[in-house]
Amino acid sequence: MTRNPPQLDDDFYYRDVPDYMTEVYDWAYVNPRHAALLDRNVVVRVLLFGNDQRLMRAYLDRVRPGMRVWQVAHVYGDLVTRVARRVGVAGVFDLTDVTPVQIAHASRKLSGLPQARVVQTDAATFEGERDYDLVTSFFLLHEVPDAKKREVVDNMLRHVPPMGRALFVDYHRPAPWQPIGWLLRWVNRYLEPFAYALWRHDIRHYASDAAAFDWHKRTVFGGVYQIVEATPKALG
Ligand SMILES: C[S@@+](CC[C@H](N)C(=O)[O-])C[C@H]1O[C@@H](n2cnc3c(N)ncnc32)[C@H](O)[C@@H]1O
Repeated sequence: MTRNPPQLDDDFYYRDVPDYMTEVYDWAYVNPRHAALLDRNVVVRVLLFGNDQRLMRAYLDRVRPGMRVWQVAHVYGDLVTRVARRVGVAGVFDLTDVTPVQIAHASRKLSGLPQARVVQTDAATFEGERDYDLVTSFFLLHEVPDAKKREVVDNMLRHVPPMGRALFVDYHRPAPWQPIGWLLRWVNRYLEPFAYALWRHDIRHYASDAAAFDWHKRTVFGGVYQIVEATPKALG
């Protein structure tokens, strides 16, 4: 009897993927056919209303050669390769993601960059090997339930040593005059149910030990986006 060669079936793509990902974000991040279509710079540009480069710059400007950087989740387009190239071969770029197809895309982009390591794991439980100079969440928090936000933020801050920094780039409550706010209300209602929480709470609200850090927040595009940095308070 001849047998068909093994296929990458749904079991592969859905292995160890949390329920909120399959229930809410299957179309965007789990389904491999959709991911193949969406993993492009132009998609990120459209989703961020043309603010992609400005928001990425807020991250890339923090990255220096030789740094140890952990990015907690994959982002479509070329952001991950830009960060990895910037830390260079003297640095470390650890990228985690919880979804197999995202790991496959990231591994393909980062192959040939020895400073990059791609790990399929939940950002809330990633151990890593060491402390990082920079730990970044680029638009992850608005996509996870509130309890998970807290776990991810706490785990990120756990990996920030005294001279390190955590960086969060994500959605925020738009100013009343910002017309995009009305579109985002619709998007949040039907597509992004965990995003509203970031309109109501500062990111520091999700940190169990927020008082141990200095928090700096700035908003852009009429409040639609926030760039938040947390640095450990000097002891003594
Ligand atoms: C960073 S967010 C959104 C990024 C942005 N909207 C874009 O253009 O790609 C999407 C990623 O978060 C990942 N993700 C969701 N929950 C996660 C978790 N708990 N730990 C690590 N990655 C997670 C998803 O698999 C997906 O690849």
